[in-house]
Amino acid sequence: MSTQQIELVVNGETVRAAVEPRMHLGDFVRRQLGLTGTHLSCEHGVCGACTVLIDGVPQRSCITYAVACDGSSITTVEGYGDDPVMAAVRRAFHEHHALQCGYCTPGMLCTARDIVLRLPGPDARRVRHELAGNLCRCTGYVGIVEAIESVLAQKARGELAMPAPVAAAAPAVAGPAAATWEPIEIPADGDWIEVRQTVALPLAPDAAFARLKDLRLVANCLPGAEIARHEGERAEGVMNIRFGPITAAFAMRAELALDDVARTGRMRAEGVDRRSATRVKTLLDYAVGDGGAGRSDVALTLRFRLAGPLAQFSRAGLVNDYVAEMTRIFGANLGSAASGQAPAGPAQAPSILALLWARLRRLFG
Ligand code: FES
Ligand code: FES
Repeated sequence: MSTQQIELVVNGETVRAAVEPRMHLGDFVRRQLGLTGTHLSCEHGVCGACTVLIDGVPQRSCITYAVACDGSSITTVEGYGDDPVMAAVRRAFHEHHALQCGYCTPGMLCTARDIVLRLPGPDARRVRHELAGNLCRCTGYVGIVEAIESVLAQKARGELAMPAPVAAAAPAVAGPAAATWEPIEIPADGDWIEVRQTVALPLAPDAAFARLKDLRLVANCLPGAEIARHEGERAEGVMNIRFGPITAAFAMRAELALDDVARTGRMRAEGVDRRSATRVKTLLDYAVGDGGAGRSDVALTLRFRLAGPLAQFSRAGLVNDYVAEMTRIFGANLGSAASGQAPAGPAQAPSILALLWARLRRLFG
């Protein structure tokens, strides 16, 4: 098996190693570095036992390739040293009996510290929501939630020293340099997940279509999208996705093809999340029709396909709900932007946990 040389910082120490391209970060820290505090359980990105910090952000080490962490800074449960927040979280877990067998604890501590650092004053309900990606099979969550709340209370009283934030590495933007833009190949066959939506715009069809020619305006309406470079009908940037406890930053390339006579457009886009080595291809078709009384109806059809570790989530209907919600927010933002207003919807991608909750409510009335 061929290996690849990587260099990264693990718990403050520079590490150079040769790793097999398919080795995940969890195996790398456990087997090659002997840091067995990182626990592996499901190895499917579901249970959270393997959670470590990558450039200061909690990530699943079991679905992150070690080679994708070349140049990154990793913190495992062994590496917090005298971090005051982790010290307080550990003490609180001890005092509130927040562990039993301890298998989930390394990942739980990492997430608990992140909750304390990131959220301004979450209540118990929000803490439980944030913990939804870390499964504990023996202790139950009462002690864990109480432990986190007690550290949050110390923070609120100003008794907790907060560490300096760790700068996240900027995701590499995929695709060639400006002078050599390759066409985006999207095969017509295969399993596509498709979502349709119609958006009413307060503009006559020709005016609405003219607005929709602006690729930057269209991309800015997509929650989580950031444009880094834009040339005419082509753009590059990052699509940030928060899929429950999993975060992904897809480095994207997009191009727009227009038919002025038919008032239709097709945006082709492809991207890769470097950490999980997951690839996405999308096709967004839109057609501007006459909605009467100086208005227009825009019919949107979004097709997408995932390949790689995160594709496992596309087997669940939740991904369809997620994309449907993204499309709904996109449509609302498009309506506002087309009328010259600020986007109406949130700038962040929707939370899959909120969608899961909505789905359960639908199921049980
Ligand atoms: S081992 Fe379960 S999420 Fe990684
Ligand atoms: S303490 Fe045993 S799984 Fe959480």
